[in-house]
Amino acid sequence: MKVNEKKVSPSSVIGTASIDLMGETVELPIVEGSEGERAIDIRTLRKRTGYITLDDGYTNTGSCESAITFVNGEDGILRYGGYPIEQIARSTTFPEVALLLLQGAPPPARELKRFSQKLTEHAMLHEGLRHHFVGFPPEAHPMAILSAMINSVSCYHPDLLRIGDEEHLLDAAAKLLSKVRTIAAFSYKKSLGEPMIYPDAERGYVSNFLHMMFSKPYTEYEPSDEEVRAIQLFFILHADHEQNCSTATARMVGSSGANLFASVAAAVCALWGPLHGGANTNVIKMLEKIHEGGDSLSATIDRVKRKEELLWGFGHRVYKSSDPRVKLLRKACHDVFQAKGISDPLLDIAQELEQIAVKDDYFVERKLYPNVDFYSGILLRAIGIPLNMYTVMFAIGRMPGWIANWAESWRHGSRIHRPRQIYTGSTERDFVPIDRR
Ligand code: CMC
Repeated sequence: MKVNEKKVSPSSVIGTASIDLMGETVELPIVEGSEGERAIDIRTLRKRTGYITLDDGYTNTGSCESAITFVNGEDGILRYGGYPIEQIARSTTFPEVALLLLQGAPPPARELKRFSQKLTEHAMLHEGLRHHFVGFPPEAHPMAILSAMINSVSCYHPDLLRIGDEEHLLDAAAKLLSKVRTIAAFSYKKSLGEPMIYPDAERGYVSNFLHMMFSKPYTEYEPSDEEVRAIQLFFILHADHEQNCSTATARMVGSSGANLFASVAAAVCALWGPLHGGANTNVIKMLEKIHEGGDSLSATIDRVKRKEELLWGFGHRVYKSSDPRVKLLRKACHDVFQAKGISDPLLDIAQELEQIAVKDDYFVERKLYPNVDFYSGILLRAIGIPLNMYTVMFAIGRMPGWIANWAESWRHGSRIHRPRQIYTGSTERDFVPIDRR
């Protein structure tokens, strides 16, 4: 793997930790990141002592050093490249955020223009690729289609299988970001049995996506400014979130030397799970069930407390006080409703559910608060995005984060990710051939 110029200042060693390993003392460096996060650097532990660490779910394990995104879960802080998410949400566009994450600094206007042109140029899919959609059954889940199609894109762009330099990377990133939007919209059209709508070079990233989703051959769909702003915000708020399950997957797959498309396709699969990006779909199903009278709020909460089910859109591995994206999404729901002159009973139910949960000991003791998925589906519903596309929307939004993390790892020449285990199976025994068993 090519090792490029190092763009991240590595953490600094600020002291040592002494660990007593059944009588033997081992000293290990303590490192500190730029925001004061500290870690015991165990990279030499096994070599020196024969011990490994055991951390199911990686709750206490830092798998990399990264300069892309900072999350402080205790204080509810999220920053892309040092910039608070509240400021980013107010004053950027999705392509601008993608470049910020990929390059570590907000792009100059001419660079953003060049990147936006690339996004427009690459929106088409190769005709051969378009035919792949025919093979999927109409009821195929769009996340399955998305992952399969991202891998297939690489078959039509073999020049992108091995990234040579930063310009090459930018080209690959633009192709991925642009085509993923077309693939998502085509998969929706496929599920409806409607003709696919080609991209329109006159439109911006979000407007073009909504056009491909909702235009028909005989009627051009024109999204309102509020709708474009709402989807732009949705994408920006999902753009990166440091070492979550799907991003860690992209890095894990990339660490074997696998190409960007394969790594991102794997990340899509990781995102699909209901504990991760799939939660946004389950939140709406839960709220709909309550709304349709199938369930009361208190019955829902009681079942959750009996651990018969999860309160979807609640809880987070890192955030233990609030998720800063929630406030922005809740406000965006109100803004879109006001602009469109509509309302949605699911928003009232969600707010009521939140009020009950945040005062209930079960949730308070476990530090469970609404996460990004709690209100995002209500926003998507207001724009008319269908339920089975919610996690695909998350995937489009998270694409810059996956690419940026893959790229950071590629620049540093990461070692292959290969965790250890504590073996608990049978000790050595003699194998008995089948005729004597
Ligand atoms: N509803 C009810 N109980 C919960 C919930 C929930 N949503 N989340 C966590 N708990 C309980 C859990 O049962 C455990 O209880 P106990 O201490 O009695 O065993 C305690 O809270 C700690 O939870 P955990 O499972 O150890 O926490 P985790 O860090 O392993 O999991 C999580 C984090 C997000 C997977 C989890 O909170 C969850 O399953 N939430 C619901 C699904 C969801 O909304 N996912 C979206 C996550 S944010 C965006 C994204 O990543 O896509």
